[in-house]
Amino acid sequence: MEKIAFFDAKPYDKESFDKINKKYEIIYYESRLRPESARLAEGCKAVCAFVNDVINAKVIDTLAELGVEVLLMRCAGFNNITLSAAKDKLKILRVPAYSPYAVAEHAMGMILALNRKIPRAYIRTRDFNFSLVGLTGFDLHGKTAGIIGTGKIGQAFIEICKGFGMEILAYDPYPADIEGVQYVEVDELFKRSDIISLHCPLTRETRYIIDENAINLMKKTALIVNTSRGQLIDSEALLSALNDKRIGGAALDVYEEESGIFFEDNSDKIVTDEVLSMLVNRPNVLITSHQAFLTEEALRGIAEVTLQNFDDYLSGKELKNEVKAQ
Ligand code: NAI
Repeated sequence: MEKIAFFDAKPYDKESFDKINKKYEIIYYESRLRPESARLAEGCKAVCAFVNDVINAKVIDTLAELGVEVLLMRCAGFNNITLSAAKDKLKILRVPAYSPYAVAEHAMGMILALNRKIPRAYIRTRDFNFSLVGLTGFDLHGKTAGIIGTGKIGQAFIEICKGFGMEILAYDPYPADIEGVQYVEVDELFKRSDIISLHCPLTRETRYIIDENAINLMKKTALIVNTSRGQLIDSEALLSALNDKRIGGAALDVYEEESGIFFEDNSDKIVTDEVLSMLVNRPNVLITSHQAFLTEEALRGIAEVTLQNFDDYLSGKELKNEVKAQ
């Protein structure tokens, strides 16, 4: 039976993979994949990794030395892999899509919670404080949503925004033909949008797409939601804009320095990331821990496609979900 070393394993991963796995021995490690832990993959043909694992040249060389042939990413993004180092050493397979609705619905959930101050209201009423002071939001109906990246998740989010009666602006270098969507240059999107939602991948071009200049173009009341990748936003610029009231608020499911903090219980520790600590404390910031994907349907889809990718590799089939090392 072929073995898979499964890094950064959480109880919900184990449950979803064990439910459908019939063919492989999966060895679950709580540790993230990084240079210090890569040797745990000894004896395994495949390694299964996630968004915050460190898959640099050192890790790739160690895995290749140990005889690991395949890296099964149980996610869509692969910005944490040094692709150039993997050439001729590791096959990389990923899960390009697993319920775009999960992420799009979470993005809208965050906007509603942030705009209508639902977390604050919840905390108040738990303490029998039924005051409404400070809880005013705005109607989404008739407002403008600016969507950056109109792929699978961006399009699912657009459909939700249409349901709210919003005008839709979009920016994507590869526009799709979507009814009721006006593609504009990114600066125009920043200027005109009431909510701005990021659904593009993290690349050299998109890193810090939301920076000081971008924020300065936005409406002072604009809400930014990021369910994509943390480094799309310059967090220090965001914090400074929040402090100066140059922006209405931010809903963040991802954070540029999330690695080692997100997905973990840090409640007993001192988190030394000053920017994150300040963002957490702002009343107009809502943070979730990279949980936008976390639905039953998405977890099932991730497990199915990840194991199917390994089946395809072992049986010499065409690898449609391969990430080519460049
Ligand atoms: P997709 O590949 O279907 O769509 C991405 C879109 O971004 C494409 O239309 C592409 O043309 C566009 N794009 C590329 N470069 C761009 C640029 N410079 N500016 C604007 N748009 C650009 O990907 P999908 O499935 O919609 O996922 C989007 C992102 O969501 C992923 O890259 C990933 O980072 C993130 N994600 C987050 C999850 C979470 O749990 N928070 C879960 C799954 C994905």
